[in-house]
Amino acid sequence: MQTEIQPIQNINNANHSQNIPLDNMETVVSGIRPTGNLHLGNYFGAVTNFVKMQDDYNCLFFIADWHSLTTHPKPEDIRKSAYTILAEYLACGLDPEKSTIYIQSDVKEVLELYLYLNMNAYLGELERVTSFKEKARKQPDNVNAGLLTYPTLMAADILIHKAIKVPVGKDQEQNMEMARKFARRFNNIYGVEYFPEPQSYSLAGKGIKIPGLDGSGKMGKSEGNCIYLIDDAATIRKKVMKAVTDSGPTEPNSQKPEVIQNLFTLLEVASTPDTYKYFDEKWNDCSIRYGDLKKQLAEDIVNKIAPIREKIVEYSSNTALLKRIAEEGAEKARISAAKTLSEVQKIIGFTNI
Ligand code: TRP
Repeated sequence: MQTEIQPIQNINNANHSQNIPLDNMETVVSGIRPTGNLHLGNYFGAVTNFVKMQDDYNCLFFIADWHSLTTHPKPEDIRKSAYTILAEYLACGLDPEKSTIYIQSDVKEVLELYLYLNMNAYLGELERVTSFKEKARKQPDNVNAGLLTYPTLMAADILIHKAIKVPVGKDQEQNMEMARKFARRFNNIYGVEYFPEPQSYSLAGKGIKIPGLDGSGKMGKSEGNCIYLIDDAATIRKKVMKAVTDSGPTEPNSQKPEVIQNLFTLLEVASTPDTYKYFDEKWNDCSIRYGDLKKQLAEDIVNKIAPIREKIVEYSSNTALLKRIAEEGAEKARISAAKTLSEVQKIIGFTNI
């Protein structure tokens, strides 16, 4: 396929025999389901980690659009939601020059590996996966085989690049356990040391939990307590000013209740250390005015997000560029995927006789 961008010197071209990319960087894979806009929780909790990892690992980040089919999205939304996520990730600093960024459905090699892995995945173990049981309960009319084999597709996503590290949240632990199990089982069945066992990964100590604005719990789409990267200044101000507080400290140096601690956590990620210290002192001597804190917090969030938001708007309006980046990413991902797949085919026995 002809694209305007020169094919980026491909790390996957290096050292084919051992699948070790140039300069021995470990391979990192993570997938993101295209389910709406990114919020501050996604940004500070996950995306900033991805951005940092780009310099130290052979990173592949993809948009898991096949996974989203389990809930039967409308045809007109499929590509649109993938491109929305793509634009937002690029705006946050994922860099196609450093990482391989692609849309899952552009790399068909994954499906063949998915089929092979499914041959060694057993009904009983798939049925026992907690997220399967939950989803089956939530959508009893649509307990499809894709839902059941969600962990095999996820394992295929990871194993197709022989990734070692997978940056994901705690909620993905069981899927990761399955991926390791499928890798191990494949190796055992064929008597090879082929697939490495992928490990979940979070940058040590950096896994900060971003609270919502409603006083308790974390920021989450389904909680309706989010500030989105795409929110404009007025929207952000309105949301922050409405954040839940209490009637104020009654004794000096007292412990902050959760609702107040949450605001301070947001200050910690969005404001300067001086600002944090200023309000912390005001809290400690009981002279704090929540209105002032919120005003400052809102401005700091606005300033932090503004450049990202600008880039989101820019990328979103340039479909040709997004398309080119996706194509370029898919091309790179397919080189890595095709190599694994041909080796797997040989191991399984699809060789010429
Ligand atoms: N299951 C992941 C989630 O819901 C998305 C995902 C799909 C993924 N394939 C993956 C994550 C491969 C990491 C690696 O968030």
